[in-house]
Amino acid sequence: MSQADTSKPLIAVVGASSKQGRSVAESLLDSGRYRVRALTRRLDSQPAQALAKKGAEVVVAPLELGGQAELTEALKGSAGAFLMTPPIVKVPPAEPELNLGKELADAAVAAGVEHVVFSGLENVEAITRGTKWAPHFTDKAKIEDYIRGLPVRSSFVYLAFYYTNFLEYYVPQGGEDGITFAIYLPPDIPMPFCDPLTAAGPAVREIFDHPARYTGEVLPVIGEFISAQQMVDTFVRVTGKRARYASAYSREDLLRHFPSFAGNEHLVRELVGMVEYAVEYGYYAPGRDLTWSRKVDPNALTWEQFLKRSKWQGDLLSYGAVAEAELAPT
Ligand SMILES: NC(=O)c1ccc[n+]([C@@H]2O[C@H](COP(=O)([O-])OP(=O)(O)OC[C@H]3O[C@@H](n4cnc5c(N)ncnc54)[C@H](OP(=O)(O)O)[C@@H]3O)[C@@H](O)[C@H]2O)c1
Repeated sequence: MSQADTSKPLIAVVGASSKQGRSVAESLLDSGRYRVRALTRRLDSQPAQALAKKGAEVVVAPLELGGQAELTEALKGSAGAFLMTPPIVKVPPAEPELNLGKELADAAVAAGVEHVVFSGLENVEAITRGTKWAPHFTDKAKIEDYIRGLPVRSSFVYLAFYYTNFLEYYVPQGGEDGITFAIYLPPDIPMPFCDPLTAAGPAVREIFDHPARYTGEVLPVIGEFISAQQMVDTFVRVTGKRARYASAYSREDLLRHFPSFAGNEHLVRELVGMVEYAVEYGYYAPGRDLTWSRKVDPNALTWEQFLKRSKWQGDLLSYGAVAEAELAPT
């Protein structure tokens, strides 16, 4: 990969060490059609070093409020930018994710970026008429609205629930009679899931390959629709281990299985609001093209393929970029 070949468009990837960002940076580099500038807070993390080895230009840039001038500098010279916001637990009345998203977008415009791809989600507040509280969805939708008003071409990817949530946050518990998967969803309702580490990249690369085609579009990124019980049954089949589903859907069940969440009331409210929204209204708003990502990426991993590829056996895994204290399951 030749980063020196300036005839290739430069794409900046914000949050390049995140699961989504890493996937985007890798896909763009693997295509051979782009140069990539990877923005991270830390050059020494394993993902940042792996991207540098692959040929990315890795630069330090803040992914927090108040860093707009540095972000603008880091985005200069880029034809495109992939923008994402990290997991942030909202504590009202502060608006950290919304304000960070606006600052990222403003920085991209100030830097002269032509096309922004933002990782968004649905407006739960509008869809549920304010009855469900899932600010990490709604604030992304508000950032999207803001971006649409800026003088820059934009597209939006909406990633499904991550398979990796069970490896990082809602880790199954081992016991005498097998593994218990305490899942934040009822057993029998199919929900969209994806592997962010392999699904985000092909979707975003497709958009940068055809910017005019995707200007203004919202593009769901889905591996498959699968129910919680089917996920457990698939785990049993693939690993040969004994496992069972347990509900962590209601507030009471969530706290019974994950008592450490009780220390963060806003997180609990948000998780309950999110899953009630997803179950009662569907994760995606009506009319979204739920087949798009599989068409552009026929190799998108199903849960079964993800299990086989990752060889995951039900234990806690970390994706390496984030300090333990920063992990929040949003
Ligand atoms: N979990 C799901 O099911 C799901 C589904 C759809 C969308 N999402 C959304 O996806 C986003 C997270 O993406 P991801 O899972 O790819 O991210 P991730 O792997 O958790 O990484 C987040 C990155 O952001 C940077 N960062 C900056 N400030 C941070 C902070 N305060 N806490 C944690 N990380 C921080 C870190 O990179 P540096 O240290 O290198 O700067 C880190 O690598 C969230 O906005 C979430 O709402 C999640």
